[in-house]
Amino acid sequence: MKDFNEKKIALSGIKPTGRPHLGNYFGMMKPTIDIQGDFKMYIFIADFHAITTMQNKDELKLSIYNLILDYLAIGLDQEKTLFYRQSSIPEVTELSWIFNCLVTVPWLERAHAFKDRVSKGIEASVGLFDYPVLMAADILLPMADIVPVGRDQIQHVEMAREISRKFNNIYGKFFKEPREYIKEEVATIIGTDGQKMSKSYGNTIPLFGTDKEIKKAIMGIVTDSKKPDEVKNPDECNIFALHKLITKEPQLSEIKKGYEYGGLSYGESKKILLENYLEFIRPMREKRKYYEDNPGIVRQILDEGERNIKKIVKENMKEVRKLVGLT
Ligand code: ADP
Ligand code: TRP
Repeated sequence: MKDFNEKKIALSGIKPTGRPHLGNYFGMMKPTIDIQGDFKMYIFIADFHAITTMQNKDELKLSIYNLILDYLAIGLDQEKTLFYRQSSIPEVTELSWIFNCLVTVPWLERAHAFKDRVSKGIEASVGLFDYPVLMAADILLPMADIVPVGRDQIQHVEMAREISRKFNNIYGKFFKEPREYIKEEVATIIGTDGQKMSKSYGNTIPLFGTDKEIKKAIMGIVTDSKKPDEVKNPDECNIFALHKLITKEPQLSEIKKGYEYGGLSYGESKKILLENYLEFIRPMREKRKYYEDNPGIVRQILDEGERNIKKIVKENMKEVRKLVGLT
């Protein structure tokens, strides 16, 4: 890992709660993969966060393993990135306890994710309520400088900064004040119904779905009822929004013309999108299969990532304990 130590730290986590969709991929997973090498990159599976909503042991274990394979398949490079499971560093829960003693209940009540839940009439567990504090510990303990996330996570990163400031004011300067890293053009990927693509809206295209699942999702993309030869506005079309992510030039411009001059039906546009998607995902599927067939290699990558991140957080936690007076 040449130059690894001189670079700034970028850190991001993703919850293993079901299969990643194209919103997760383009909004957050790909941007982290693309900046590997520019930063000291830490990517982790947020399994402690997952149990705020997922309490089936077998389902959780399977989700964790699948997400590990997904990340390796999309190009996580162990030479450039420390890859680990959040639960392999229980120090984050110790730190979140210390942070819990610095924040107030009304301050946590401001979190959008919590407010959304409550407004839907879902009773929040203490863990769910405390989600932003654990996330702050994830970010601050390994001393991240930047946090690549989708737009909906900005508030959580802001809250981590506030906690950092509060800790530093009370106990002496120690933590950084990390910034979110958002790629504007992929900040919100829309789903098959035109809303933000999200597991909760049932409008997703699963990144590693089967051909059949992907076909069903793409063919189900909602459009208006314009006829094939009518002029259409590509910028208002849910299919075209996905073409922009997947279809390459010069075909993309041809499709655009098909919309603007008429002649391209929505059905045809979907068919091309499906073909292009299957071509786009093919090498990643092959890579995923390789790791699936070689669990020993997967184990070794995680072991190494976890060994390294443990060293870092143990050192930092020792300092935190000293600052707090827990020695
Ligand atoms: P979901 O909304 O499906 O439950 P998560 O909340 O688990 O997705 O999101 C995991 C990560 O992927 C977060 O960083 C989030 O910002 C990003 N993300 C999720 N959906 C989208 C989307 N439609 N567009 C851009 N980023 C997204
Ligand atoms: N809350 C993030 C999500 O729902 C996952 C997450 C947990 C995370 N800890 C993090 C993301 C730390 C970035 C940094 O997507």
